[in-house]
Amino acid sequence: MYKHFIRPILFHLNPETAHNFTMKSLTALRYVPLGRTFAKMLFKPKTPNLSREVFGITFPNPLGLSGGFDKNGEHYNDLANFGFGFVEIGSLTVNPQEGNPKPRLFRLPSDKALINRMGINNKGVRYAIDQLIENKPKVIIAANIAKNSSSLNDEAGKDFETAFARLYDYVDMFVLNISCPNVESLSELQDISFLSEIVDRLLSMRMYYTTYRPIIIKVSPDISLESLDRILDYCMSYGIDGIIACNTTRKREGLKASQSQLGKIGKGGLSGAPLYKKTLDTVRYIHQKTEGNLPIIASGGISTPEQAQEMLDAGASLIEIYTSFIYEGPSAAKNILKHLEANAIARKNE
Ligand SMILES: Cc1cc2nc3c(=O)[nH]c(=O)nc-3n(C[C@H](O)[C@H](O)[C@H](O)COP(=O)(O)O)c2cc1C
Repeated sequence: MYKHFIRPILFHLNPETAHNFTMKSLTALRYVPLGRTFAKMLFKPKTPNLSREVFGITFPNPLGLSGGFDKNGEHYNDLANFGFGFVEIGSLTVNPQEGNPKPRLFRLPSDKALINRMGINNKGVRYAIDQLIENKPKVIIAANIAKNSSSLNDEAGKDFETAFARLYDYVDMFVLNISCPNVESLSELQDISFLSEIVDRLLSMRMYYTTYRPIIIKVSPDISLESLDRILDYCMSYGIDGIIACNTTRKREGLKASQSQLGKIGKGGLSGAPLYKKTLDTVRYIHQKTEGNLPIIASGGISTPEQAQEMLDAGASLIEIYTSFIYEGPSAAKNILKHLEANAIARKNE
């Protein structure tokens, strides 16, 4: 139904318009009698064998929705009806920001991929908190936080600290976005001198709270092995709770899309199917390097139920999707979860 009727219509629209239209439809569904119950019945399978504890949090299943889909925390409960075990809201910055000029989101259908240079457009942390107060979350919420584009990297620590403090009582865990390719020099924050300055502040602050909120770092697939090793050493030495591998890539390798199409699109982060191999290799590398002691959230190119299983088998504790949700539609999570559940049962009985 989605692939034959709804997707062709949505794909006729500009990608950002299609996204906003879909989000508005989700809001409208709240006012349709039994709309949410119906969505849940259709798309949220029962998966009692997929529950797991990671970072001290019990997840009903390992599949989450990646950062950037529900940028302002307006739809996490609606999206949970599609089966997701957790939803990452944001990236959120302390002050609202417009992001980059449009057009800034592009489809590459032949590659089942997207290119975006959104530039962390969002309504700011305070707006998201209002949403979280108004719509009590029925799903585990990760707040993905970033610095404002106007803040210099030297001021990033202050931005992260403010966002962290304001959101602390409203979310379950934090993701630090230090790897967005679309904000000038943001990925420099992966340099250990910047990173430790930011994270040290958050770790010190966290000591004063009575509740514990995990802190997870999201890295780029484009960083060098040396930089990744330094981040892993830092995570292991300072008690960072986990790592997300990975964000979108600036690279354009192995695509079916023509050079002229790519040239017209220009700069941006590539997501979707072409990222899968790199994500899998990175997950394997981190798992082996940290001897399985650093929980990994795999993000990047997971498009099929088999790939979801492969990523978990490679050492990921949790997995996330974004682009395949666009291409596969509302059944994307359900198809993955049903496969994982069947495997979990089969493995239990082995
Ligand atoms: C349109 C779009 C917007 C995104 N915005 C963010 C963001 O604000 N913060 C972030 O950390 N990642 C963002 N991402 C990256 C995704 O969270 C994810 O890491 C990436 O798309 C790879 O996963 P996928 O191949 O399943 O899409 C965005 C991705 C897309 C396609």
